[in-house]
Amino acid sequence: LKPGTIYEAIGGQEAVDKIIDSLYKHIGKHPKLIPIFPDDLEESARKQRLFLTQFFGGPNLYFQDRGHPMLKRRHMEFEITPDRKDAWLECMNKALEEANIEEPYRSAIFERLTMTAVHMINTEA
Ligand code: HEM
Repeated sequence: LKPGTIYEAIGGQEAVDKIIDSLYKHIGKHPKLIPIFPDDLEESARKQRLFLTQFFGGPNLYFQDRGHPMLKRRHMEFEITPDRKDAWLECMNKALEEANIEEPYRSAIFERLTMTAVHMINTEA
């Protein structure tokens, strides 16, 4: 557990896992997201868990399993509209709340994820 990371501050893997559980529960129910996600979200959740762990400054699990994230490229086959960006962030916002992530970490995380989400937009309207 590296000191000074968001990962450490929020409570390590246990906190990340709570965020992931809640995030995919909401994604799986969101009418704007259902059409582009697979029916079975288990593998999606597994990869996102690896990614967020390293995004927050924890062990670089995603890199070990999947190599360079190249997130924009990996999202190109899905139509990510501004609407879907908002929907994804809505799910994430609920997940951070339900996982009881406290301030100032919660806002710091949400800000960084908002920037990343905006960057994923590849389809207008
Ligand atoms: C994969 C949608 C934003 C991280 C995916 C997939 C979809 C998707 C449909 C493919 C299915 C899957 O593997 O789960 C979206 C939408 C977003 C969004 C609509 C709204 C902007 C983000 C953001 C991040 C992210 C902000 C990072 C913080 C990932 C990762 C994968 C993934 C790590 C798996 C990539 C792989 O290794 O194959 N996303 N995503 N996504 N997304 Fe997103």
